[in-house]
Amino acid sequence: MEAARPLALERKLYEDVAERVALLIEQKTLRPGERIPSVRAMSAQQRVSVSTVLQAYLLLENRGLIETRPQSGHYVRVRARELPAEPRMSRPPTSTTRVTVSDLVARVYGATRDPHIVPLGAAYPSADVLPTERLNRLMAQVARRAGRRAMAYDAPPGCPELRRQIARRALTAGCTIAPDEIVTTSGAMEALHLALRAVADAGDTIAIETPTYYGVLQLIETLGMRALEIPTHPRDGLHLDALETALKQFRVKAVLATPNFNNPLGSLMPDAHKARLVQLLGRREVPLIEDDIYGDLHFGPERPRAARAFDRDGLVLLCASFSKTIAPGYRVGWCAPGRFRERVERLKFMHSVATATLPQMAIAAFLDQGGYDRHLRALRRNLAAQVRRYAEAVSEHFPRGTRLTRPAGGFVLWVELPAGVSALEVHSRALSRGISVAPGPIFSAKQRFANFVRVNCGHPWSDEISRAVATLGRLAAEAAT
Ligand SMILES: Cc1ncc(COP(=O)(O)O)c(C=O)c1O
Repeated sequence: MEAARPLALERKLYEDVAERVALLIEQKTLRPGERIPSVRAMSAQQRVSVSTVLQAYLLLENRGLIETRPQSGHYVRVRARELPAEPRMSRPPTSTTRVTVSDLVARVYGATRDPHIVPLGAAYPSADVLPTERLNRLMAQVARRAGRRAMAYDAPPGCPELRRQIARRALTAGCTIAPDEIVTTSGAMEALHLALRAVADAGDTIAIETPTYYGVLQLIETLGMRALEIPTHPRDGLHLDALETALKQFRVKAVLATPNFNNPLGSLMPDAHKARLVQLLGRREVPLIEDDIYGDLHFGPERPRAARAFDRDGLVLLCASFSKTIAPGYRVGWCAPGRFRERVERLKFMHSVATATLPQMAIAAFLDQGGYDRHLRALRRNLAAQVRRYAEAVSEHFPRGTRLTRPAGGFVLWVELPAGVSALEVHSRALSRGISVAPGPIFSAKQRFANFVRVNCGHPWSDEISRAVATLGRLAAEAAT
């Protein structure tokens, strides 16, 4: 279990420096196209180290406020246009509900298997930004070396080398987890499934963010549980006062949340909120199922902590996978279930016997050979730039009254279309033009968010994507009139 560790909750020095420069840009003291003070000059002016300034400039670059010109310095970005306002905090009715999304999800996604469809729907990164070649080579190498082991079931808790690598990496999220606590799974979906079954039964109520990833809603639906949607802010995530009130009002069996970069919001729960969330639930002995699948894809310089980092009671079941960072098709995920370890391990065996052997070994080898951090640095930079590019295109082409998130990580945008526009209508018209997009209602237990769409930015910007975003904007504008 966790070792006690001091919590650094205050804002970091580089964030202060970044905030000061952002203010100068906002107040037009530093104008678009103008060079900002060099790293050395800023370090001397602000009496901070060169590396602090570098971190601050990286943060500003990822927020799209400045750009680096090779051999020239840092400049205030000239933006095509200001981004529209952000969506407001969601305000669901305070009642528990049966979930009914799976038919709609099946209809929406059934139509998107065609490889010729422009993929703005499902949230996955393109193979162009993943370590495709290297992993293919590693898989072949591992298969050659594994011999008979490659053919055998890898009984739960799963591949020891992989569990050791996951435990090592958990440190970057502020967690001390023993390899023996980890159970490997077939993707994060299975991890979430096992975690839910370990802590709740049919008929029980699970509190969730809203909007939330439709896969979670489908799990709650198929397990016969009820959802309690909690107001969620597009920047800070779950609204803790609202959650506290709901916990007093309802018998909540567990909370399932994605504090680091909720899909579709891209929200990032501040550390202080994570600590409060864990405390709040700890007092009531309510387990937290934490989905940290996007945690490594932060746009700021530091990997955010998992809420699990604040857990002292073994009540947080941390779930994640390598689907968003290495290889969605390998289906390798994991769960660190805290005090529910035995139950999760047993359920894993009953649910799917074992996780596929070779993909686990290949991912363990990739993590071991040191390429992962380098790969993540490049991936984060690419994704941050892609999200920025897509956001600019949305603000250029979508109708007046559109609102848009500012994700702090991950690779999706949550777009609020003007009131009255039907996202399902936009979705089906887009599909008939060869473009997929995820309509808002699949992200809510009761199919709310009728005028929202989620746009996947996991594919490098191209003429085809540029045309597709412009078409989506036109369809939304037509539906708005
Ligand atoms: C928030 C979230 N959790 C879980 C998953 C499922 O992940 P996996 O493909 O590893 O099962 C996804 C995939 O889109 C996701 O966005």
